[in-house]
Amino acid sequence: MTAGLQEGYLSSPMSTPTPSANLMETLVSLCKRRGFIFPSSDIYGGLNGFFDYGPLGVEMKNNIKAAWWRDFVQRRDDMVGLDSSIIHHPTTWKASGHVDNFTDPLVDCKVSKQRYRADQLFWAAAVVEAEGTGERQVFGYVSALESDRTAEELQEKADQLKRKKAVRGKLLPVEVKDFTQAKPEEIPLIPSPATGEPGSLTPPRSFNMMFQTYIGALRDGSAVAYLRPETAQGIFINFKNVVDTGRVKVPFGIAQVGKAFRNEINPRNFTFRSREFEQMEIEYFIAPDADWQKCHRDWIDAGLAWLDSVGVPRSKLSEYAHPKEKLSHYSKGTVDIMFEFPFGVQEIWGFAARGDFDLTQHQKFSGKSMEYFDEAAKKKYVPHVIEPSVGVDRIFLAALSAAFSEDEAPDEKGKMEKRTVLRLSPRLAPVKVAVLPLVKNKPELVAAAEQLYAKLKRKCVSFYDQSGAIGRRYRRQDEIGTPWCVTVDFDTLANGTFTLRDRDSMKQERIDEKALFALLDEKLN
Ligand code: GAP
Repeated sequence: MTAGLQEGYLSSPMSTPTPSANLMETLVSLCKRRGFIFPSSDIYGGLNGFFDYGPLGVEMKNNIKAAWWRDFVQRRDDMVGLDSSIIHHPTTWKASGHVDNFTDPLVDCKVSKQRYRADQLFWAAAVVEAEGTGERQVFGYVSALESDRTAEELQEKADQLKRKKAVRGKLLPVEVKDFTQAKPEEIPLIPSPATGEPGSLTPPRSFNMMFQTYIGALRDGSAVAYLRPETAQGIFINFKNVVDTGRVKVPFGIAQVGKAFRNEINPRNFTFRSREFEQMEIEYFIAPDADWQKCHRDWIDAGLAWLDSVGVPRSKLSEYAHPKEKLSHYSKGTVDIMFEFPFGVQEIWGFAARGDFDLTQHQKFSGKSMEYFDEAAKKKYVPHVIEPSVGVDRIFLAALSAAFSEDEAPDEKGKMEKRTVLRLSPRLAPVKVAVLPLVKNKPELVAAAEQLYAKLKRKCVSFYDQSGAIGRRYRRQDEIGTPWCVTVDFDTLANGTFTLRDRDSMKQERIDEKALFALLDEKLN
């Protein structure tokens, strides 16, 4: 055995993972370096809000979608799937309310030409209190973009402004507001975050986030169509088609996975908010008098358990119930599952109780009945719906950031060195197993390794690597999250066993081919 092969024993117990100081930067660089995610159109300088998934990224993304589809569609009796077109009849988006209401409040800085979402641009009046009299005086305004420390940043800026203007008195804590809360007379006084100077920000105006295109050769209004901003409407407009195929009975759900497009004003945080992304949505249809709260709760619990099962740990998940006064008029309740991303706690999966709003709207705009005849209850109704809706790219980012860790492992000479490891769940890992001949200059070892690799490839994504010291080869697999490495050595030739090395514990054990395939069967399903 080489020194590298003994690392599992040498390094035990493992050191505590030490997260990088700036995890997002580290992840973005790892994604590019190892072929998970590239900026879109990289050779032309990139395209803001668009990303390309590389060889490893596409495997992992496909694994997320396959695991979700398997668990929420194929393994349930009350679910069916759908794959609708991306471009729907434009009336779809009139009926759904997207043409009129799918807007974000947009603010322009006339000097820098920067554009901001008004609800992500924060500001505060800088106020001092005079000693003795307690009289309060506004001596200026400060602004900052949304971040983990918006309030602190505004307070620091107020303090700097006080010193710059040599204002006397005690600076009061800032009252943070977003730009939608600015009164018309306050807008010219709030500085632009780009220039630091007031007077250049416009009042917020509504900006529709749907991407427009044209169908056919005409370029007039009658040819306008939209790239779908959610996959959900494709489900609603097919409700009747699915019911009429006869297999389903309320309660049941229709699931769809596919691309969605939103012309986000401010795409950010890597893939978290992009302009082209993928959704996995379910519309779960229930009777109008069904216990919707229970159904809603059951779906949230199913979402939490599923995320945990694919390596997005429960300890980093929380729930956010939208306040009643902020709900859309048709929504009875919306709860988001939030994840502790490196840039803050943010939504990963939304669960909305949408009543019968969507089906009723499509009934109205199409003139086609969306009623369902419930044979058990002997009555007709338009079903209500619970909608679990999640972004594939957000699960990808959450799983990646939860999996990333740095610890130490011995190098070939037994000296401890830093190890980067993605502790991805085996179901999501892009490569499941790597086959490594101990040395490359022994033809009989290489032949045995190639033979094993050929068999493994038929079962799951496998990787063959014979270049470099064995320890280096382990490191390369750790960094991309490969759960197992199988080393083919001289004992293999003698008794048909391999060294199986576990990514997380770095422990090694002897295993034969049958046991290896049984392990993969168990862990990958
Ligand atoms: N049909 C309901 C719907 O689309 P949403 O909250 O707008 O609801 C659902 O989107 C999910 O889609 C979000 O929870 C998020 O995971 C994902 N998502 C939304 N906008 C996104 C964006 N710009 N980039 C990446 N993922 C996004």
